[in-house]
Amino acid sequence: MRAVDVIMKKRSGGELTREEIQFLISGYVAGAIPDYQVSAWAMAVFFRGMTSQETAALTDVMLESGKVMDLSGIKGPFVDKHSTGGVGDKTSLILAPIVASLGIKDPMMSGRALGHTGGTLDKLEAIPGYRTNLSQAEFREILARDGFAMTGQTKEIVPADRLLYALRDVSGTVESIPLITASILSKKVAEGADALVLDVKYGSGAFMKDAKDGEALARSLVDTGAAMGKRITALLTDMDEPLGNMVGNFLEVEECIDCLEGKGPQDLTELSLELAARMVVLGGKAKDSARGREICEEALESGKPLRLFLDNIRSQGGDPESFLKMRGVYRSEIKGEVRAREGGFIRRIDALKVGNAGVQLGVGRNQTQDTVSPTAGIQFHKKSGGAVKPGDLIMSVWAKDEAGLAQALNGLEDAVSYGAAPPENRRLILKSIESGALPKVSSRKPRSPQGTV
Ligand code: URA
Repeated sequence: MRAVDVIMKKRSGGELTREEIQFLISGYVAGAIPDYQVSAWAMAVFFRGMTSQETAALTDVMLESGKVMDLSGIKGPFVDKHSTGGVGDKTSLILAPIVASLGIKDPMMSGRALGHTGGTLDKLEAIPGYRTNLSQAEFREILARDGFAMTGQTKEIVPADRLLYALRDVSGTVESIPLITASILSKKVAEGADALVLDVKYGSGAFMKDAKDGEALARSLVDTGAAMGKRITALLTDMDEPLGNMVGNFLEVEECIDCLEGKGPQDLTELSLELAARMVVLGGKAKDSARGREICEEALESGKPLRLFLDNIRSQGGDPESFLKMRGVYRSEIKGEVRAREGGFIRRIDALKVGNAGVQLGVGRNQTQDTVSPTAGIQFHKKSGGAVKPGDLIMSVWAKDEAGLAQALNGLEDAVSYGAAPPENRRLILKSIESGALPKVSSRKPRSPQGTV
């Protein structure tokens, strides 16, 4: 077999066999097939797409490139949530302790900010002392005790995705439904969760810019997950405007604590509860999402999720007491503001422009090796639908340096549009997409020729 023949077959719209996909991916991981051939193949997939069989084969082959997490001996059920990425998207830190308080284990392996989207690991590491590089033994111990543990991916888990994602990022091939599906699901299956809730975002701040593409991605994730024996529920959710009132690493952790105290912004609280409700259903603790929601609300009111989150800070190396004292004060000294240019109503705050400004402030990174600032970010005092007079404060802004602040302020001013009337309400959750009954043949255990970590 030759890589060039596989590339040309896909380029002309052919359906690749599992053997052809395996040849390409394992050859790439082994260093036998170069970046330029794999990026040509990824571009062919971008334009030609993949059938559901090809997508499932790609996911499986990527999973088999590494090891799977060993959760044996820990009492489940194991249910995780994954978001396709957004701005101000911090629900993981709220729902993990909620579902853990209800007896569901959430083995969470997260990523870092890349491009305009934020990363859970960077947010957590903004808490002084908090470690996200847990050993396997530590991860297992914390998961068993606290009900959730939050760590980065190990080198052994899905090495094919680490290579392929970095290549896609620089070759214009990220926004491909089969490639996103295989990337997300190979990691999530390797992580050992029995079931998954996926927050599939659409809008300017998401990879999928409209609801139609978002729904196609959600369907691909749910169907491919089912073919791999995983129960998945996907929610199609709006990412045209940042979620919540904070964008930034420490700022977002603070906002999660507000939610866990029952004082969070309405959109963030609502989405976190709806996602958690689906996790509770998949974990077998509620018969439907309405009951799941009630259970999650009761849990939140009990205060137990907040205590679990603070316990987790201690378990992962931070100090919850000093963390709580830093709320409202741990901010960069380099500060700016965005004030209303016009009177009337804010019609839109463009999530993509805010995310890009966040990178300039130091919240995110342009390249994997860039460092992020814990104390940079944006606090919204008004969002779309808000009435403003010229000069009203819309955002407080903190930056890692003066140059970044100046660039970001231009982008942030530009992100706000005004009008004489408020905009129509966008629906935060457009729809829920679920897997049907799972095919019997697919109930195999996550497997990997490389074993477990
Ligand atoms: N998140 C992932 O893990 N992979 C993608 O391809 C896109 C979002």
